[in-house]
Amino acid sequence: MTLLEVKNLKVDFTTQDGIVNAVKDLSYSLDKGKTLAIVGESGSGKTQGAFAILGLLPKNGKASGSVRFDGKEILNLPRKQMNAYRAQRIGIIFQDPMTSLNPYLRISRQMTEVLELHKGMSHSAAIAESVRLLDAVRITDAANRIHMYPHEFSGGMRQRVMIAMALLCSPELLIADEPTTALDVTVQAGIIDLLVDLQEDFGTAIVLITHDLGIVAGTCENTLVMFDGRVMEYGKTEDIFERAEHPYTQGLLAALPRLDKKVDRLSTVSYDFMTGARQA
Ligand SMILES: Nc1ncnc2c1ncn2[C@@H]1O[C@H](COP(=O)(O)OP(=O)(O)OP(=O)(O)O)[C@@H](O)[C@H]1O
Ligand SMILES: [Mg+2]
Repeated sequence: MTLLEVKNLKVDFTTQDGIVNAVKDLSYSLDKGKTLAIVGESGSGKTQGAFAILGLLPKNGKASGSVRFDGKEILNLPRKQMNAYRAQRIGIIFQDPMTSLNPYLRISRQMTEVLELHKGMSHSAAIAESVRLLDAVRITDAANRIHMYPHEFSGGMRQRVMIAMALLCSPELLIADEPTTALDVTVQAGIIDLLVDLQEDFGTAIVLITHDLGIVAGTCENTLVMFDGRVMEYGKTEDIFERAEHPYTQGLLAALPRLDKKVDRLSTVSYDFMTGARQA
């Protein structure tokens, strides 16, 4: 069952120097409960391609093409209708956790507001549900720590809070934009394991935007490689890695920033790229 179908998506920005074509032609589809990795070098259009789906483009940006979610066209929906999707059916984890956590509000307030507003829950029910999700993302002593402010959490913990918030309304689709960037390797592995577990528990489909090919090989059925706003490769993850024998794709994969560093740093956790199995 297809959950998300993106067809010929384009994103243009109007700037002082003219039009920037950030996304030129992006098409893919994602089945319920499955994971698609989107990889590509910095500036290739991964984030703006995801923002366009949710109507989150900066003011000077404009999207065209088609995005169907559960059979309905959702590209460029009026804000109010889009907010209903975002609150109830589609979750997003942003590249930078501090952009979506309000530093001045306790975590409890930020989480319960969504549930009270969109699910009509009472405050005490909303607190209980929020604590349950913080537990699910393995924040210890969640019942007490839910009352803390974002700055009282470490970077890794904030990322977990973000995941819990994105899961608040049990979304059918989760868009995770570099959910492990800037975390150290052991924490990264933990967060990815967590996403996989949550996917099994909640049946959530995931679009995982990442630079880390190790993560892709281990967790995503399908992979899409973006280059300069277009799809360079799209298919089963193991096929993409096999095809990397082709000089062009090889160069593209090698050009992914941070890959070299990651391989060094990941020496204790490596992946069998052909089977996707993680090896100790
Ligand atoms: N507000 C804007 N005005 C003009 N151009 C923009 C704007 N926002 C993004 N862009 C351009 O859109 C292109 C795609 O950016 P995007 O953020 O999607 O890249 P990305 O693939 O997510 O990169 P990274 O891996 O660094 O996160 C870039 O060339 C960027 O400069
Ligand atoms: Mg990005």
